[in-house]
Amino acid sequence: MGPILRQMLAVRPIDPADRSGAKRLNQVLTAWSLTAIGLGATIGTGIFVLTGTVAAAQAGPAVTLSLLIAAFGSGLAALCYAEFAAFLPVPGSAYSYTYATLGEGLAWFIGWNLLLEYGISASAVAVSWSGYVVNLLGDAHIHLPALLVNAPFEQDAKGHFVSTGAIVNLPAVLIVAAMSTVCYIGVSQSAGANTFMVSLKVGIIVIFILAGLKYVDSSNWHPYVPPNTGSFGHFGWSGVLQGAAIIFFSYVGFDTASTTALEARNPQRDLPIGILCALLISSILYVAMSAVMTGMVPFTKLNVDAPVAVALDAHPQLAWLGILVKTGAIIGMTSVILTSLLGQPRILLAMADDGLLPPSMSKCHPRFKTPHVATAVTGVVAALIAGVFPLDVLADLISIGILLAFAVVCLGVLVMRKKRPDAPRPFRVPWAPFTCILGTLVCLSMTLALSNATWVRLVIWTAIGMAIYAFYGFRHSRLRK
Ligand code: ALA
Repeated sequence: MGPILRQMLAVRPIDPADRSGAKRLNQVLTAWSLTAIGLGATIGTGIFVLTGTVAAAQAGPAVTLSLLIAAFGSGLAALCYAEFAAFLPVPGSAYSYTYATLGEGLAWFIGWNLLLEYGISASAVAVSWSGYVVNLLGDAHIHLPALLVNAPFEQDAKGHFVSTGAIVNLPAVLIVAAMSTVCYIGVSQSAGANTFMVSLKVGIIVIFILAGLKYVDSSNWHPYVPPNTGSFGHFGWSGVLQGAAIIFFSYVGFDTASTTALEARNPQRDLPIGILCALLISSILYVAMSAVMTGMVPFTKLNVDAPVAVALDAHPQLAWLGILVKTGAIIGMTSVILTSLLGQPRILLAMADDGLLPPSMSKCHPRFKTPHVATAVTGVVAALIAGVFPLDVLADLISIGILLAFAVVCLGVLVMRKKRPDAPRPFRVPWAPFTCILGTLVCLSMTLALSNATWVRLVIWTAIGMAIYAFYGFRHSRLRK
């Protein structure tokens, strides 16, 4: 075996009892704040935007089924995350789990993909945040210049970038800057702000479900799975499957609590609770909300940026809810941006500790006890991307990257069980290895339903990541030294 391959396959020795890294950070997070971090990172653009577009373009009323399939895949991955997070409470999350089981090369690939989950997803959500804010200000007759609220590029039908004439999406840049500042200042401030926003957004979603239920016309649910139009993914069962892969974006983030492992008071007990509860609560809310939405209006009308508003507009008696739901969407997205920007620097910190990134990334602020350099770098890059790219270019790329990361985490649990069969595991995936193998297969099969263009982007993304690894990580890896 060549030395290059040997290093890429080298696994990092671990000691689950080693919490020495925790000294640099604040241990303040409880089971409730960890669940709220998961909910904060999960409920956002997906439920407020993608459910409508997937119903209109892929699955019809069976968008609820797409949501359930995506929840099933995420659920299997969540069980595997819970076992790892309790066994190995380190901030690198899936990156560190992979390093300990499947080797440095794959760990870098997963760490690079987690950049999509947190950093790039903060940018993507900031773009839809800006759309909702501009819309709400428009309702109040405040009109911002189009030059300053749109991305300078968009994608044409062939997938090529074309200029829009705009300069920058300024609101998107500003919200990323504001949330990065909160993350810089402290984890308890971030968790407190997040818990407040999560309570508001969940409350508003529950009000929408209860108020909308009375206006559901069950004829809108027929046919439940509209017939396929002749091409893969356009309704029919292939539409339900492709819908599941696209809407999977809605579940991205339930695992965010795992990145704050060193800041949890009792990680072994509370991380599994946080991860599993976040996924369970968001799945229930998503399925209920999209069932009500597709029952309130024909699904063909939902192919818009604010489908929930369309469902409400169809029933003038519910006009009062319009402003509330838009506010809920904005608050929801704000918490996704905040928690994504909280997760990303902690992954960078873990990678820098391993020598795969420059050591400055693992520096912690002496007073705030946060990874401040990594937080600032994440904030600047996420703000730049949010300012210049449109949402659709970012969303599918994020989904495919995370699906692959989930598949690897499921596989990693099996490898770890084989390597360390007797190590104490505070949480164990039930019915392993069946659950882990199924999790890997479900996540991989969802990636196959995504478009070819998304795969091409993933290959380009991976090539950039591998070039950085070759020039920096490979040479500076601590394991190599
Ligand atoms: N799951 C997050 C959202 O839907 C990324 O906004």
